[in-house]
Amino acid sequence: MSENTFYLTTPIYYVNDVPHLGHAYTTVAADFVARFRRLQGRRVHFLTGTDEHGQKVARSAEAQGLSPREWTDQIVPRWTEVWDALDISNDDFIRTTEARHEKPVQSFVSHLHERGQIYLGSYEGLYCIGCEAFKVPEELVDGKCPLHGIEPEVVSEDNYFFRLSEYAGRLIELYETNPRFVMPEPRRNEVLGKVKAGLDDLSISRVSFDWGIPIPWDPKHVIYVWVDALQNYVTAAGYDSDEAAFRRIWPADIHFVGKDILWFHAVIWPALLMALDLPLPATIYAHGFLQVGGEKMSKSKLTGISPHDLIETFSSDGYRYFFMREVSFGQDGNFSWEGMAARYNSDLANDFGNLASRVTSMSVRYLDGVVPGRPDGHELGPFERDLRAVQRRAFEDMTRAIDDLALGEALKAVWSFVRRGNAYVEEVAPWALAKQVGARRRLEVVLYELLESLRLLALMTAPITPRAADELWSRVGASGSVHDCVYERALAWGGLAPGSQVRAGPPLFPRIET
Ligand code: MSP
Repeated sequence: MSENTFYLTTPIYYVNDVPHLGHAYTTVAADFVARFRRLQGRRVHFLTGTDEHGQKVARSAEAQGLSPREWTDQIVPRWTEVWDALDISNDDFIRTTEARHEKPVQSFVSHLHERGQIYLGSYEGLYCIGCEAFKVPEELVDGKCPLHGIEPEVVSEDNYFFRLSEYAGRLIELYETNPRFVMPEPRRNEVLGKVKAGLDDLSISRVSFDWGIPIPWDPKHVIYVWVDALQNYVTAAGYDSDEAAFRRIWPADIHFVGKDILWFHAVIWPALLMALDLPLPATIYAHGFLQVGGEKMSKSKLTGISPHDLIETFSSDGYRYFFMREVSFGQDGNFSWEGMAARYNSDLANDFGNLASRVTSMSVRYLDGVVPGRPDGHELGPFERDLRAVQRRAFEDMTRAIDDLALGEALKAVWSFVRRGNAYVEEVAPWALAKQVGARRRLEVVLYELLESLRLLALMTAPITPRAADELWSRVGASGSVHDCVYERALAWGGLAPGSQVRAGPPLFPRIET
């Protein structure tokens, strides 16, 4: 693991079309982890970008009557818009058509060539443009690619090959000795089984079209789009362009990918790195696939929903929370409007939103919105002690879950504290204390505990619902932005400064009428 920088990546997306829910899923997950690590005080480098070469993109351009470059320049903003709308906090965005990528890719393959890892051969195979990959007949269903529903094309040409087959032994050893290299575990077993069955050399160039990076010593060939694309993880980190940055950033701590592209990341990518004696990423995490209403997303069936449609209704916070909480990370999941509205209303509008609005409005009503003095130890009863203990445990559980990339579990842990907060309100009934003679200090103590709970909740929810968290942070009178905090210091109980001004406001998560 790189010591200084926590480096995490999403796949770079094909710009043959605009983003859908599946693409946004990978990116939101990576953003959740990136924001959490920053709050832990880690120096984070979070990379995403676009995969712009290859036949799939070239054909989309052609269908629009545009050159591939005109097309990609036009469509890339449609992707960055969605990332902005989802509050994605990437530190860099790489396009594979940038010079900072293309040049180092050429030197990477030249080094492979110099080391005798590449040879010229001829190939005949079935190529699926949807996958941008050759398929063996056993992978097809009724002659079609099961992922894309199209018949692969017969390709027969002279290609350069990478000696992938020579790496099987080292890869097997890698999976066996390092259980975190491919996660989650069932995926690791799958990859291990397939590699044990044997590896073929990999065709890494094409001559029948030219939308790609030329092979430097034989420019009528362009580099196979996957070999070009995988290298974004090192070129964006400074490989062959900025030695110091590369040393600081590489290797990656996590490559987030969908299960459909695990093979490229867990087999081809480490073999390419091994061939140049470059350090390997620590973890490749393959998540499951999303469906819409139980079906594969497809434009023709109206299941190809744009993230914008959901953000309009549920806000970016609601969007981020729903997909991370509802789908068990690593497994397949389903989106439906009803399911999303139900989850949003119960967890965000009711549990979290109501707690925030009850506590801030009672503080305004009973204390003129001024944060009271911190309770002394002797002022704490069993309810307060339990509230604090639940918060500590919730944060420990959250941290452990994120370390294990059990992202939904991390949110369940945070919500155990949300629920405890709501239960505490019922137990201490501030509205009754407000009417009771001689109970003023007790009222202050319970409202301090509750305001402090909200401050801690703002910190704990900052990685998943960054807007609401920052708003809550300022409503309870904390200073600065929640996103500039570091957990170790900020999470100590009692951080909320007495005398600060509390504000009530509109619901953080307005209820959705179904
Ligand atoms: N360009 C390649 C990746 C190169 S990375 C060096 C690619 N692009 S993609 O745009 O087709 O897909 C990118 C990501 O979106 C993949 O991780 C894929 O798994 C994910 N998803 C696409 N559809 C999905 C769902 N329906 N559900 C969840 N994720 C899905 O592959």
